[in-house]
Amino acid sequence: MTWQYNPRVAIVRGLRTPFAKAGTTYAKLDALELGKIVVSELLQRSEIEPREVNEVIYGTVIPSVKAANIAREIVLGTGLPRTIPGFTVSRACASSNTALTSGADMISRGYADTVVVGGAESLSTVPILFSRRFAEILVAASKQKTMAGKLGRFRKLRPKDLAPDTPALAESVTGLTMGESCEIMAKENGVTRDAQDRFALQSHQRAASAIAQGWFNDEVMSFPIPPDYESVAETDNLVRADTTLDALSQLRPVFDRNFGTITAGNASGLTDGASAILLMSEDKAKALGIKPIGFLKSYAYAALDPFDQLLQGPAFAIPIALDRAKLTLKDVDVVEMHEAFAAQVLSNIAWLGSKAIAETKLGRSEPVGELDPEAINPTGGSIAIGHPFGATGARIITSVCNHLQRTGKQYGLISVCAAGGQGSAVVVERE
Ligand SMILES: CC(C)(COP(=O)(O)OP(=O)(O)OC[C@H]1O[C@@H](n2cnc3c(N)ncnc32)[C@H](O)[C@@H]1OP(=O)(O)O)[C@@H](O)C(=O)NCCC(=O)NCCS
Repeated sequence: MTWQYNPRVAIVRGLRTPFAKAGTTYAKLDALELGKIVVSELLQRSEIEPREVNEVIYGTVIPSVKAANIAREIVLGTGLPRTIPGFTVSRACASSNTALTSGADMISRGYADTVVVGGAESLSTVPILFSRRFAEILVAASKQKTMAGKLGRFRKLRPKDLAPDTPALAESVTGLTMGESCEIMAKENGVTRDAQDRFALQSHQRAASAIAQGWFNDEVMSFPIPPDYESVAETDNLVRADTTLDALSQLRPVFDRNFGTITAGNASGLTDGASAILLMSEDKAKALGIKPIGFLKSYAYAALDPFDQLLQGPAFAIPIALDRAKLTLKDVDVVEMHEAFAAQVLSNIAWLGSKAIAETKLGRSEPVGELDPEAINPTGGSIAIGHPFGATGARIITSVCNHLQRTGKQYGLISVCAAGGQGSAVVVERE
């Protein structure tokens, strides 16, 4: 390949597995299996020589203890030339955004011209750890040379040592789960249960409509499911075309049972899935005669104190990404905000439109801009489609690019909130 500086990064195409509720379609597949499946198919559909790929960058939030660098394992497990390096990134739910922007940075510096990025998550196969004491006894027993010695160690076990040590879903500094934190946000921003349920309904209706119209055909693959290959994964299984406002309003709050507003219906569900995007320098795509689905224009990451409103990261990242693109919210044609919870999206929108928040938190004299909840997420969002943490960012970036292609519009804005108070924003353009 010819190494040359090319600041424009082409999003050649993106692909994902259908997303599935944890414990269902992909109950026996881990994130690596899902990642290998989608990267293989992406490269086949792209019709490029695998040796053209310079790097694989992949995101995951709950890593495998046996294959910590999932990106390199994907290279080794998909028939890609084993000389292609790969590294893994983690920025909670914005991990595949981070994979994409890391790949784009390599391309814009001229260090690479073809990079595969993406992310995967399997909440069906989350590693369950032994307690610390059980682990110590196992190690001590393994060092004993005789069976009697080993049994002697195990005799020290107490029933409570056998209790599994499950991965924490709570924030390390606040001790609150995402759902609990979002309940506080809903209350502080005055986001009602009805507004959340209406937004969730819109998410399902739009995702169902997008699927029915074949809008996801180019971005969602189908495949026979290993290990027995007897059934086929064809479509997202969390989308409920038939849900109603009445059904949503009947669901009980989950995170604050007495006074809460967040339910299984207006939250994103625990999901398995994988996504991938092929990035190239614009020159390389042109040289190969490839028409990309879009181009990366700018991006930004930002963070706030998790003791503040945990999932408001997008309100901080969006204005920075827009400034870097020399655009305002009014210039953007398609906005997709990742829906961790309806209350989170509505809270992000409230902060973007607030002069007081602009002045006190964002260091700006004017609000970032008004967003109508009905004007965003035209093909549904994570509430309906699901949210495999590491895979979501690349899902949204692909969807927004394809939507710009369908509508002939120019600018797209993507935001994702992430654990630890982080936010990601990406601006893409059609041509
Ligand atoms: C909210 C949460 C606890 C719900 O989990 P769950 O109880 O397994 O959810 P289910 O899908 O089984 O739904 C519970 C019930 O609501 C019903 N329901 C869910 N969505 C519905 C909808 N749109 N319309 C009608 N009913 C719905 C289900 O049918 C089910 O009813 P049942 O109990 O009669 O079978 C879980 O999805 C969660 O933790 N989500 C948040 C994840 C998170 O924090 N992500 C990080 C964000 S970045």
